[in-house]
Amino acid sequence: MNTVTARQRVLSGMRPTGLLHLGHYHGVLKNWVNLQHEHECFFFVADWHALTTHYEDPRIIEQSVWDMVIDWLAAGISPGAAKMFIQSRVPEHAELHTLLSMITPLGWLERVPTYKDQQEQLKEKDLATYGFLGYPLLQSADILIYKAGLVPVGEDQVAHVELTREVARRFNHLYGREPGFEDKAENAVKKMGKKNARMFKELRRKYQEQGDDDSLSVAQALLDTQQNISIGDKERLYGYLEGSGRIILPEPQSLLTPASKMPGLDGQKMSKSYANTIALRDDPDEITQKLRTMPTDPARVRRNDPGDPDKCPVWQFHLVYSDDVTREWVQEGCRNAGIGCVECKQPIIDSVLKELKPIQERAREYENDLSTVKSIIEDGNEAAREVARDTLDDVRKAMGIAYL
Ligand code: TRP
Ligand code: SF4
Repeated sequence: MNTVTARQRVLSGMRPTGLLHLGHYHGVLKNWVNLQHEHECFFFVADWHALTTHYEDPRIIEQSVWDMVIDWLAAGISPGAAKMFIQSRVPEHAELHTLLSMITPLGWLERVPTYKDQQEQLKEKDLATYGFLGYPLLQSADILIYKAGLVPVGEDQVAHVELTREVARRFNHLYGREPGFEDKAENAVKKMGKKNARMFKELRRKYQEQGDDDSLSVAQALLDTQQNISIGDKERLYGYLEGSGRIILPEPQSLLTPASKMPGLDGQKMSKSYANTIALRDDPDEITQKLRTMPTDPARVRRNDPGDPDKCPVWQFHLVYSDDVTREWVQEGCRNAGIGCVECKQPIIDSVLKELKPIQERAREYENDLSTVKSIIEDGNEAAREVARDTLDDVRKAMGIAYL
């Protein structure tokens, strides 16, 4: 595995708990579709994570796994560009999770904000389980097993990526020290050739003595391009640069997905638990019906009553879907009762149906050809395992359980 891609690799997961809707599409999937062309991408179905909260009714997970993969493919994730797989089919995640659990202080997990928040929000479920406490550490294993550099997530998941960074740092600190580290690192520097070695040392000095972050980035980029240095030596040099030991598990960064502007039918966040969604695979008639009956500014009881778009969820849809001319028409027409609400909704209906048409066509093709969907996932599972096995080898060696 080459370190250039390792540092840039993108990984993200989604819990399979039902059909995907427009909120997922605008919030997550469009972003993944863009990333797949710029980075090496791994996207996976987090079925174990779904079990942490849905252990009492796992049936929904099984159905949702395939629905979700179909929705991904329909939305434009391409098996040629991104690897898609199922978490539980890559059992290496579980082994890394176990190994990381040995070095993770309980307090770090108890302090993750989602731990208490979710327990309170999902009061009807008993989440005082071992699995639920370990949720973010399992997520750390998901990320670190691919040495992912970038993790696209929403705001609510940033704390989990932060935990991942701390766990990686602790791991490297504990196991990245080796006898003769400095000598090995110095030897590795020599392998870069005179000119690069001199540049590397200069940059390292600037970073370590003056805290100059630019020097750090330049030195890392210089390392990325070295062809003559083994992976082990590169791990050493990344660490040597920063003043630590070998970096076996690189720290990932979260790639914050901008909060989606996509509202639900009632103006709240679109979410299955608010029953305000438009699923990607809803029938066009049903979508039309849902949009026609969605609430508007409550002050507009009669057609002649003027309204205020700021108090109307339909306006938020116009912000996602309409151009300036249409928006102007809404503002005017609403405030002086020049247009009716049914009229105002029509461009939205048209835009949503137009957006979903190709997605639904693709979804139908995959629905009718599940064997293709399954073989895409099989390929993804295998590709993921190859990377995961390599990392696990490194980790086992570092922890003294490689027995070779
Ligand atoms: N916890 C994430 C969510 O609920 C899903 C997830 C599991 C994930 N493992 C991950 C996301 C690894 C990014 C990276 O959305
Ligand atoms: Fe909402 Fe449009 Fe009706 Fe105004 S005219 S209340 S923006 S639906």
